[in-house]
Amino acid sequence: MKTYHIITYGCQMNENDSEKLAGILTSMGYAPIESPEDANILIMNTCSVRENADDKFFGHLGYYKKNRTASDEKILAVCGCMMQQTEIVSTIRKKYPFVDIIFGTHNIHLFGQMLSKHLQTGEMICDIWDDIDHFEENIPVKREYIHKAYITIMNGCNNFCSYCIVPFTRGREKSRESSSIITEIKELAQNGCKEVMLLGQNVNSYGKTLNQPKTFASLLEDVSDIDEIERIRFMTSHPKDLTDDIISIMKERENICNHVHLPLQSGSNRILSEMNRHYSRESYLALADKLRNAIPDLAISTDIIVGFPTETEDDFLATLDMINKCRFDAAFTFIYSPRNGTKAAQMDQLFGKDVIQNRFNRLLELQYQIMLENAQRYKGRALEVIAEGISKTDPQMMSGRTKTNKLVNFSGSCQIGDTVTIIVTDALTFHLTGKMIN
Ligand code: 5AD
Ligand code: SF4
Repeated sequence: MKTYHIITYGCQMNENDSEKLAGILTSMGYAPIESPEDANILIMNTCSVRENADDKFFGHLGYYKKNRTASDEKILAVCGCMMQQTEIVSTIRKKYPFVDIIFGTHNIHLFGQMLSKHLQTGEMICDIWDDIDHFEENIPVKREYIHKAYITIMNGCNNFCSYCIVPFTRGREKSRESSSIITEIKELAQNGCKEVMLLGQNVNSYGKTLNQPKTFASLLEDVSDIDEIERIRFMTSHPKDLTDDIISIMKERENICNHVHLPLQSGSNRILSEMNRHYSRESYLALADKLRNAIPDLAISTDIIVGFPTETEDDFLATLDMINKCRFDAAFTFIYSPRNGTKAAQMDQLFGKDVIQNRFNRLLELQYQIMLENAQRYKGRALEVIAEGISKTDPQMMSGRTKTNKLVNFSGSCQIGDTVTIIVTDALTFHLTGKMIN
């Protein structure tokens, strides 16, 4: 049997795209294989959000350039956000001409046809589309788990945050028809799925582009009505669009998880304005308060960028102050990375790498301390956990997640996908430890 391996860089949207590519390959009779070296088809699904993701990809291609022999029949396909940038595609064509198939973010559904054409002709296929004006449906999906699934509910982004490449690589925002979303989730539920993660760059603005507009809150309500679904998660929420109707439905429905991912990016109003984020530190704090008052035991996670052009020490201190005030349960922290074609890439950087690295280290130190303190509230409590597999740090234990998305390592015997109750015995920065009681 012919085999494939997919390397996925970047966000959950890319992971879901890779599951679609795996679905297409499975329907063509290919089987997944652990080792990229042994696969008949290797796909690299790239990310261009930050420079280090670019570097990793070119590092991988460099490895194949060195190790590829004339008789090597492996098919190498590259796709994802990086391919939406013309200069990247021309670099690949010039320096890595052994790549067999190049495609972008808008024509994933046609991968099967591109592969067949390559197999017939032996020619390099390069097909990049600028954008599409609809959400592509009916792509088979091969999912990693039975009990939980990523569901992409919209593609693209209209926000143009000044540092971000995504509106250029993923195109304009387009929502998926809610009837398709609900049909897909009902089918999954009948086959044992109990947790869904609704994905979009800005899920709070879901539905605006539909012929019959629909709000994200009403989509959440529809998903929440599906009996078998025990947990609904969603990301990413833009603070400027998280409206009261969303908070009300989160409060009302047991199966909508008490966790929200709410990127702050910076705590300085001047930087937020330069970033084109359309909220202030005051309005963010008011929103976080409103959410916490409405939803019991809510966890808030965030994204923070350090070293945005013109960020001063005072701006950075304003970010630290927000970290202290918001007490995030988790934070994805990034050093600013200039991206060609974005507005911020033309702005001057006031400080060098060392200053920015020092700020980044101080940010992490504070955030880790807060996470450790926050985690103490779980100690001794009984929590509902869905088991996800053997613990990565201790093979004697299972691991799973709480509704607040906290990782728990626990003793006790159960199957992947089981909903169990655990008593928390210890609370650390990145995970809780516990004992299963039923
Ligand atoms: N540099 C650093 N971080 C970035 N992000 C997006 N673009 C950049 C960039 N150019 C971060 C933001 C976003 C997350 C997905 O990646 O914090 O929320
Ligand atoms: Fe990028 Fe901003 Fe859109 Fe998020 S909301 S994808 S950060 S442009």
